[in-house]
Amino acid sequence: MKLLILASLVAFLVVTEAGSYRKSRSRRELAPGLHLHGIRDASGSYCQKRDSCCPGRDDICTVPYLDTICYCDLFCNRTVSDCCPDFWQYCLGIEPPSIVQKACVRNGQHYPKGATYLENCNLCTCANEGRWHCEQNPCLINAKAIEAINTGDYSWTAGNYSQFWGMTLDEGIQYRLGTAKPSSSVMNMNEIHVNMNNDILPSHFNAAEKWPGLVHEPLDQGNCAGSWAFSTAAVASDRISIQSMGHMTQSLSPQNLLSCDTRNQHGCRGGRVDGAWWYLRRRGVVSEPCYPFTSLNTNGHSAPCMMQSRSMGRGKRQATNNCPNQYYSSNEIYQSTPAYRLASSEKDIMKELYENGPVQAIMEVHEDFFMYKSGIYRRTPVTEREPEHHRRHGTHSVKITGWGEERGRDGQTHKYWLAANSWGRDWGEDGYFRIARGENECEIETFIVGVWGRVSMEDVARKK
Ligand SMILES: *[C@@H]1O[C@H](CO)[C@@H](O)[C@H](O)[C@H]1NC(C)=O
Ligand SMILES: *[C@@H]1O[C@H](CO)[C@@H](O)[C@H](O)[C@H]1NC(C)=O
Repeated sequence: MKLLILASLVAFLVVTEAGSYRKSRSRRELAPGLHLHGIRDASGSYCQKRDSCCPGRDDICTVPYLDTICYCDLFCNRTVSDCCPDFWQYCLGIEPPSIVQKACVRNGQHYPKGATYLENCNLCTCANEGRWHCEQNPCLINAKAIEAINTGDYSWTAGNYSQFWGMTLDEGIQYRLGTAKPSSSVMNMNEIHVNMNNDILPSHFNAAEKWPGLVHEPLDQGNCAGSWAFSTAAVASDRISIQSMGHMTQSLSPQNLLSCDTRNQHGCRGGRVDGAWWYLRRRGVVSEPCYPFTSLNTNGHSAPCMMQSRSMGRGKRQATNNCPNQYYSSNEIYQSTPAYRLASSEKDIMKELYENGPVQAIMEVHEDFFMYKSGIYRRTPVTEREPEHHRRHGTHSVKITGWGEERGRDGQTHKYWLAANSWGRDWGEDGYFRIARGENECEIETFIVGVWGRVSMEDVARKK
C-alpha cells in the first residue's frame, strides 16, 4: 500500500516539477520557520491522519499542525521549513531530513549540532547542514610540512612531537621561546676578539667530551617562555663547573632567575639575557635542586620570588632563606663575572668554545624548527606556498657546545654547530640540535656570549 503511493508520487513529481517552481511562494511563506529550529512535534502523525500525500506542490495539501498548518506535498523534497513532521517517513518512507541534516558524521559515528572535536590545533564544530566547521589556525606540528621536509632535498629530518601536537604556531612562538632581542646598546657592546695564535682548531669538537661530566644536559622549559633564564643558567652552570675544575658542578636554577630577576624581566613571558647576566653577577642564584623549576603557578603567573641573596662583604653573597625545596639543604649562591660578547666570527666562536667552554647564542626560531628531529638544520621554504600567517618567527636563546662537519647527500661538506635547546631530551638529537655553521643561519652567530664563573681558590679548596 505504502509502496504503491510512493511509486505514484515519484511519477507525479517528474511531471509536475517544472510547474511547481512557477507557483507563487507567498502562501508557503505564511507559516515560516515551522521546522527551522527542529521538529516541534516529531512524533505526531499528520500526513498519516490525512491519509494521503500530494504530488508536486499543492498548496491545499495541508493539515492543522499545532498553531499553524503543515504540508504533505512533494515540494517537501526540497524544503523542510513547512512540512509535516511525518511527511518523510509516511510519504517517502525515509528518515526526516531535519534529523539527517543535523547530524555530523565522523568515523561512522553521528554527532549532534554543536558537538566538537580537535583536529590537531583546530577546534571543529558540528554546524548546520551536518557539516563540520573547523578553525583554520596554522598548527605547530604541520603534517604537510613534515612530509615535504622528509621527502625534499634537505639536510635534516622533521618529526612529530606529542608535546607540540595540538598547539597553534602562535602558541609555540608565544610559549616556547622567550628571549627578547638585545637592545641596540647591548648589541653595540664591545666584542672581544679572541687571539688566534694560529692555532689549528679540530674539525670536530664537543665540549661534553673535552670536559666529561661538566657539561650539563639540555633543559626543558615546558610552556614557559623563559629561554632567557634557561640558556643563561645552562651556560653559567657549565662555565662554573669547568672553571672550578669539577669542584662546583651544580646545575643553576632557571626558576631563581624567572621568579626573582624581575627588573624589566617578565619571567615566563620573556626576558633579556643581558639582564640575566647582570643578576648572576650582582645577586647570584642557587642550584636547581634547591630552587626547582615550577613553571607557572595555577593562575598562569610566574611564581613569586622565594629566595634572595645578601652581601657578606668581599663580593660574596649569602641566601636569605632556606631552599624553596624543603628537602634540600644547600642554599649556596653561585655568581658569575661580567658576561662578554664575542665577535660574530665563526673562528672566534670556535676558539672560545674550545678554550673556555659552551657559549650562549641568540637565534631566530622559524616555524619549521619546532619539528626538527635530526641532521643539520637550515630553514626550509616548505611553507612558502601557504598563506603569510603560516610563516612566523620569534627570538630564542640556546647553548652552543661544539661543532663538526658532515658530508651531505650532495657530496658537499656541511659544517654545523652543535647546540643544546631547552625543549627537553626527547626533542631533536637527545635535546640537542645541529645547525649550519659559518653562514649565520637564523642569526645564530650574531650575538654570542661567554662568561667566567666567579670561582676562588677558596671555593675549590672548600669543595675538595
Ligand atoms: C527527492 O529529491 C532528490 C534530489 O533532490 C531526488 O534524488 C529524490 O529522488 C527525490 N525523492 C522523491 C521521492 O521524489
Ligand atoms: C602526532 O602525535 C600525536 C600525539 O602523540 C598524535 O595524536 C598525532 O596523530 C600525530 N600526528 C601525526 C601527523 O603524526
